[in-house]
Parts: sequence; C-alpha cells; structure tokens
Amino acid sequence: MPLPENYELVELFSADDIAQRVHELAARIDADYIKLGAKDILLVCVLRGACVFYADLLRTLQTPARLDFMQVSSYVGQQSSGNLIISKDIENIEGQHVLLVEDIVDTGYTMQLLLKRLQDRKPASLKLCSLLDKAAARRYQVPVDYVGFAAPEKFLVGYGLDYNSYFRGLPYIAELILAE
Ligand code: IMP
Ligand code: MG
Repeated sequence: MPLPENYELVELFSADDIAQRVHELAARIDADYIKLGAKDILLVCVLRGACVFYADLLRTLQTPARLDFMQVSSYVGQQSSGNLIISKDIENIEGQHVLLVEDIVDTGYTMQLLLKRLQDRKPASLKLCSLLDKAAARRYQVPVDYVGFAAPEKFLVGYGLDYNSYFRGLPYIAELILAE
C-alpha cells in the first residue's frame, strides 16, 4: 500500500501534551502499584500501535518493570465466543502483576477478548493502560484502568498509530483526513 497522495493532518495532541500526560499516568501507576503491594510490573506492549507510548511510559515509571510483547488481532465471526488471533504471545504470567499497554480502544472488541484470555492464565493482577480511548465507539465493555486522552470518533495517526503502516513516527497525534 503506497502512502496516500492527498491528505491533511490536523494535530490534536502535541508532543508536549503527550509527554506531560505520560508523566501523569506514570505517577498514578506507580502510586497504585505501591498500594497493590506489587514489587514489580510485567509491562506488556500490544504491538504494533503501542510501541512509542510504551517506550516513553517505560522510561518514566519508577516501579521496576519487566518487558514483554504481544501481537493480536481479532475478527468478528459467527461464533459468539469471539475470534482472537495471537500472533506473538507472552511468557507465563501466573502470579504476576500484568499491565497491558495499548494504543487505542475503539469498539473494545479486541481488548475484551484479550483480557478474558489473559485472566484465565491467573495473573496476580491484570490492568489496561491505553493511550487513547474512543469511548463513543465502544460496543464491548472493557475496563480501561488508565487512559491517556479521550479521543474523538475520528481516524487518528501518529505517536505509534498508523494508516496502512504509515505515520507511526509522527511525534504528535493527528486526525488523518484523506482527500477524495
Ligand atoms: P477495537 O477492537 O475496535 O477496539 O480495535 C482497536 C484497534 O483498532 C486498535 O488497537 C488500533 O490498532 C485500531 N484502531 C482503532 N481506531 C484507530 C484509529 O483512529 N487510528 C489507528 N488505529 C485505530
Ligand atoms: Mg492496537
């Protein structure tokens, strides 16, 4: 897929906005995990969209974190059991404090399936931190414990988020408007 020829980027969250929010989130997470009595966190990056946010959060957290990476996708099939494809899995999480780091929760379908699947593996705790939350698009209930920014129902790119794999490297988050 080539880069679209005609498009406009409308900045919604600047690099400074994001850096400030990452610090606020990290401080909250640190405080919460002290309360939880957790000595460390297993910080899990949901590839690929969360990669930039993950790297910044990781470097801001004070709580010792171990790293792991997962790649998942989902498709809406005919079975109500749901269809989650795990193309890169994490190691054993039993008894560990797992914090999933995601780019954006949209309908909530993927995260709802993933959280259910990981809960079966008996972590000591399981929480979700998402850079963006498109709450108006939610169709499946997902507890998002930490939200970076409330997102409008628009197509967003940058700071890890992509359109056909492009735009992930933008240092800010923008609405992508494709020309006809
Ligand atoms: P959900 O299962 O509908 O919640 O899908 C969430 C996934 O769709 C996210 O993890 C993103 O990878 C992708 N996604 C949803 N909205 C956007 C967007 O505005 N920009 C880029 N990716 C998006
Ligand atoms: Mg994602």
